[in-house]
Amino acid sequence: MCGIVGYIGEEDVKEILLKGLEKLEYRGYDSAGISVRNGEELKIFKEAGRIKDLREKVDPDFQAATGIGHTRWATHGEPSVTNAHPHQSADGRFTLVHNGVIENYEQIKQEYLPETEFVSSTDTEIIVELISALAKEGRTTEEAFKAALDILHGSYALGLLDKDEEDVIYVAKNKSPLLLGKGEGFNVITSDAMAMLHLTDEFVELMDGELVLLKRDGITIKDRDGNTIERESYIAEIDESDTEKGTYEHYMLKEINDQPAAMRKIIQEYQDENGELSIDTEIMDQINDADRVYIIAAGTSYHAGLIGKEYFEKWAGIPTEVHVASEFVYNTPLLSKRPLFVFISQSGETADSRAVLVEVKRLGHKTLTVTNVPGSTLSREADQTLILHAGPEIAVASTKAYTAQIAVLAILAQVAARALGRETGINLTEELAKVTTAITTVIDDAETIEGIVHEYLETTRNAFFIGRAMDHYVGLEGALKLKEISYIQAEGFAGGELKHGTIALIEEGTPVFALATQEKVNLNIRGNAQEVQARGANVCTIAMEGLESENDAYVIPNVHSMLTPLVSVVVYQFISYYAALHRGNDVDKPRNLAKSVTVE
Ligand code: F6R
Repeated sequence: MCGIVGYIGEEDVKEILLKGLEKLEYRGYDSAGISVRNGEELKIFKEAGRIKDLREKVDPDFQAATGIGHTRWATHGEPSVTNAHPHQSADGRFTLVHNGVIENYEQIKQEYLPETEFVSSTDTEIIVELISALAKEGRTTEEAFKAALDILHGSYALGLLDKDEEDVIYVAKNKSPLLLGKGEGFNVITSDAMAMLHLTDEFVELMDGELVLLKRDGITIKDRDGNTIERESYIAEIDESDTEKGTYEHYMLKEINDQPAAMRKIIQEYQDENGELSIDTEIMDQINDADRVYIIAAGTSYHAGLIGKEYFEKWAGIPTEVHVASEFVYNTPLLSKRPLFVFISQSGETADSRAVLVEVKRLGHKTLTVTNVPGSTLSREADQTLILHAGPEIAVASTKAYTAQIAVLAILAQVAARALGRETGINLTEELAKVTTAITTVIDDAETIEGIVHEYLETTRNAFFIGRAMDHYVGLEGALKLKEISYIQAEGFAGGELKHGTIALIEEGTPVFALATQEKVNLNIRGNAQEVQARGANVCTIAMEGLESENDAYVIPNVHSMLTPLVSVVVYQFISYYAALHRGNDVDKPRNLAKSVTVE
């Protein structure tokens, strides 16, 4: 989703901003722009499309060392050069970049800016005109900025430049993520630490409601009453090379291949010195005290949550519900007496999940975030955090974060079971090691899976994924993966459910992927596969070794029945990858999608 970068220092800011914006590309965007300031001269360069197109528009001869940049994922107004950020006030004095959504923009227009003619259809232009109008009433820029913040309702991360003012970038945020970065002789702002790692790894958190003056030689953070706030910086522990795709053609392919290493890292991170799986005692106290777990997540993370529920209930004996984040606040179920809310989020920035976090914290409930990004909003704001240790995930389609989420939830449930004195009958460390080997086997066999794509998906417009028990949940993820990058309409179903309506869609040649990794339902899912085959479906069965039958298209190595999703999903990841590749799609940046979904 939208991304912001800003720099104030001594180097050529244009290149710094463009490089930062390239690093933010993975979040998803449809237009981009920068605004750079040199003395009293301020220039804006914007383009719809990719950063490489913006690069061509930027005047290489304009020297500047202060600037702000933005990648836009359209919310108000179509993707176009006019709607791209930065936006400038009509008097030419202020330029502004904004992430988020202003809810009361219509009201602001009518109340404060009735005479203003707007050129774009964005809510952001209203903010910059509001600041300009407030400044014209005799306020300093800082006062005008603060007064504007008092009027805005909604989510925002903002970077503001004033043509008439000494070199300073004004910064503020509410709900949307924004970090301050510190350097020698320069300072930066960024939506994501990764975008500025080429300059610094030292960052300072910014909290909602604060206002920042970012200067070359210092950062001043103030609260809304004007009091200065001192805050320690931290070092972002991200290896810049982890954010490159190396020799792989796409980030998604790299990240699928990263999974065995991620599994090993997770086992290592969650082991104590005796080799026992171990979780921070404060988190264990939270779990052991809870009478019910409420998992809150979106998309792929929600699908991981469905598997997590199995672990919490079957191993730890803790009743668990899984909820789609965007529905929870408006459709809150009856809560138990001692609920624990577990937020699962790769990015740790998903606005829908954060809205639930804010609400349940207000109600005084306990919260735990499971995320891949230390220091992310959900991590900072929850009582406790468990880190996924999957390494940066750049491709929009989540792969290694999903398997990492399942592995970490399994470890959490296993340690909880042990603390509660429950026998689970599984040596999880050993079984996860087997899973790691099995994932490697599937990865080594990617060519065979590419063959499946040739056979089943080359020309189709739709596909179905069926499975029972855990395999049903993996089918949901397989369908999501396929549709988001190949644009093939795909749906996941419980094997027994298809015949209650959807079977009407099965025609001659319709691809149906059937997963058979669960012994207790193996015969049933095979029966379901036959039902659709009898109606013309082109059935592709993926089975686990030991449960296979003659005509299965692919057989995954045998692993513990509770851990099969970690292996079977890798087949679906490759199927989606190759289906998208064969269709000539932009695998890493599928249309309309964003990596961090920071608006509700
Ligand atoms: C799909 C995908 C999304 C995310 C969802 C939640 O491949 O990545 O469905 O899972 O947007 O994002 P996080 O996990 O960052 O909260």
